Amino acid sequence: MTRSPIVQCYKLSKSYGKGESETFALRETDLTVYKQELLMIVGPSGCGKTTLLSIISNLIDADSGECHVLGTDVFQLSETDKTAFRGQHIGFVFQSFNLFPALTAVENVASPLIIKGMDYAQALKKARPLLASVGIADQADRIPSELSGGQQQRIAIARALVNKPELVICDEPTSALDHKSGQTVMQLLKSISAEHKTTLIVVTHDARIYSYADRIVEMDDGQIIGMKNDETI
Ligand SMILES: Nc1ncnc2c1ncn2[C@@H]1O[C@H](COP(=O)(O)OP(=O)(O)OP(=O)(O)O)[C@@H](O)[C@H]1O
Ligand SMILES: [Mg+2]
Repeated sequence: MTRSPIVQCYKLSKSYGKGESETFALRETDLTVYKQELLMIVGPSGCGKTTLLSIISNLIDADSGECHVLGTDVFQLSETDKTAFRGQHIGFVFQSFNLFPALTAVENVASPLIIKGMDYAQALKKARPLLASVGIADQADRIPSELSGGQQQRIAIARALVNKPELVICDEPTSALDHKSGQTVMQLLKSISAEHKTTLIVVTHDARIYSYADRIVEMDDGQIIGMKNDETI
């Protein structure tokens, strides 16, 4: 089966700093991500994984190269349009959950809708079924510090999906979790993304979750050095 691409990166390069302290984070990296796959990106610390995710999601600019997301040449967008594009099409899940500490679970899930201008009561109404789909409807009115790491990551997954993004980007989603919670988080990511027809890019060091990937990209020193399961696409 041939799938259509959702992300196409060509010769992305990025360095930080200048002169002797210049660090090359990406070196002419090419990457294609296909619709509805779960693509994992693995590699040693400092090899450029987060930099690649940040460029794909328009959080930082590359020095050179091209990046097309959903057919849009994202480097050509204005700063305002980049923010709007991200809000509309991309959800995020991070290692450290990045929840609002003073908001309840359901308010956290609803927060992207409220930020977009949706009425508070309506946003909460939309958020509740997502909390239920990650199995923590009964924790809706608790704040993050009253919940376990696994429960907090489930809130983050529900929040990442509330805008119905086509692409969800996860940076080390299971690294702060015990084995069982990590497996639960991956199972939820996989089943909910199948239901919503979402594409997932997951950066990880956690070998225990490799089996959830459709393809695994190996990076080292700012380059892609290998690809596992490529024949499945
Ligand atoms: N804001 C920054 N300023 C300077 N150097 C940076 C910055 N961000 C990243 N780097 C450097 O760029 C390189 C790639 O960093 P990046 O965060 O992309 O790696 P990573 O593969 O995500 O690592 P880890 O697995 O530890 O999260 C590293 O050498 C890092 O020190
Ligand atoms: Mg990183």
